[in-house]
Amino acid sequence: MMLRDVLRDATQRLQVAGSESARRDAELLMLAVLGKSAMWLYSHDDQCFLPEQALRFDALLQRREQGEPVAHLLGERGFWTLDLRVNAHTLIPRPETEMLVEFALEKLSADVAVPVLDLGTGSGAIALAVKAERSACAVTAVDASPDALLVAHDNAARLGLVVEFLQGSWFAPLGQRRFQLVLSNPPYIRADDVHLSQGDVRFEPRSALVSGVDGLDDIRHLVSFAPLHLLPGGWLALEHGHDQSLQVRAIMQAAGFQDVASRTDLNGHERITFGRYFLGGAGTC
Ligand SMILES: C[S@@+](CC[C@H](N)C(=O)[O-])C[C@H]1O[C@@H](n2cnc3c(N)ncnc32)[C@H](O)[C@@H]1O
Repeated sequence: MMLRDVLRDATQRLQVAGSESARRDAELLMLAVLGKSAMWLYSHDDQCFLPEQALRFDALLQRREQGEPVAHLLGERGFWTLDLRVNAHTLIPRPETEMLVEFALEKLSADVAVPVLDLGTGSGAIALAVKAERSACAVTAVDASPDALLVAHDNAARLGLVVEFLQGSWFAPLGQRRFQLVLSNPPYIRADDVHLSQGDVRFEPRSALVSGVDGLDDIRHLVSFAPLHLLPGGWLALEHGHDQSLQVRAIMQAAGFQDVASRTDLNGHERITFGRYFLGGAGTC
C-alpha cells in the first residue's frame, strides 16, 4: 500500500479513537518511522513502507489509539526553536508557554547579562529557550522532580546550552539569591478538574499539573516568596489557566507588585500574568 493510503487509513483509525489532531498525529508517527522530513513525504507518498517499518508504524498507532501522547511516542516535542526530549516524568511543553519566553526576551536586551530563574523547569523548556536566545544571561532552573531534572540535563547537554539546574521546592534551593527575571509555568489545575481524566494530561505527572482546590496554591506560594528573590525592579511572570488571570493579578497586586498585567494567547485567553517588584514600595523606573 502506498504511504498516502497508509496515512489516510491511519488518520481514520485515530479519528475513531477520538484524536482531535488525527491527521497530524498519524503524519508525525509516519515521519518518525521513515526517518524523513514532511517535505520528503509530500513528494514520495507513492512509495511503500518496508515490512519492518509497517510493523513499527502499526505498533505506534495502536499506542496512540490507547491515548498515549504523540510526544511520548516520539520521545520529543518542539518548543520555541528547540527539539526537547520528554518522557512520562515531564510535562509536554505547550505552545502557550512560549508566551513566557517572548516576555523574557522583551525584558532582556540581547547583550544583557543578568540572572534569570525558571521555577518548575520540567524538560527545561523555558530555561533552555531563554538561554538559547540570551546566551550572556546566567539561567538557573529548579524542579522538585529529580526524574524531570535528568531530562532537563539531557536536553541542555544535547543542545550545548549551559543552565544551572537545582533540585528542590520552588525557591528553597536558592538561599538568598536574587534574579532580574523569575519565570514559571507552575501546576495550576484544580484537583477536581474533569480535564485531568482526558487527553494527554492522563499520561503526565499529576505533580506537574495539580495545585490544590482552586489550582492556585503554587501561584500563591511563588508570588509571596518572589520578593525575597527579585532584584529591585525585577519581574515575575507566571503562566496560569485561561480563567485565572483576574485572581492571579489580585494575588500579585496584594503582594505589592507593580505594573501588573496579563497577556492573551491566540485563542483570546489571558494565559500569563506578570509584575515587577521594588524593594520597599512603589518604583520609579
Ligand atoms: C506545569 S509543569 C511545567 C514544566 C515546564 N516548565 C514546561 O513549561 O513545560 C510544572 C513543573 O513544576 C514542577 N513542580 C511541581 N511542584 C514543584 C515544587 N514544589 N517545586 C519545584 N518544582 C515543582 C513539576 O515537577 C513540573 O515539572
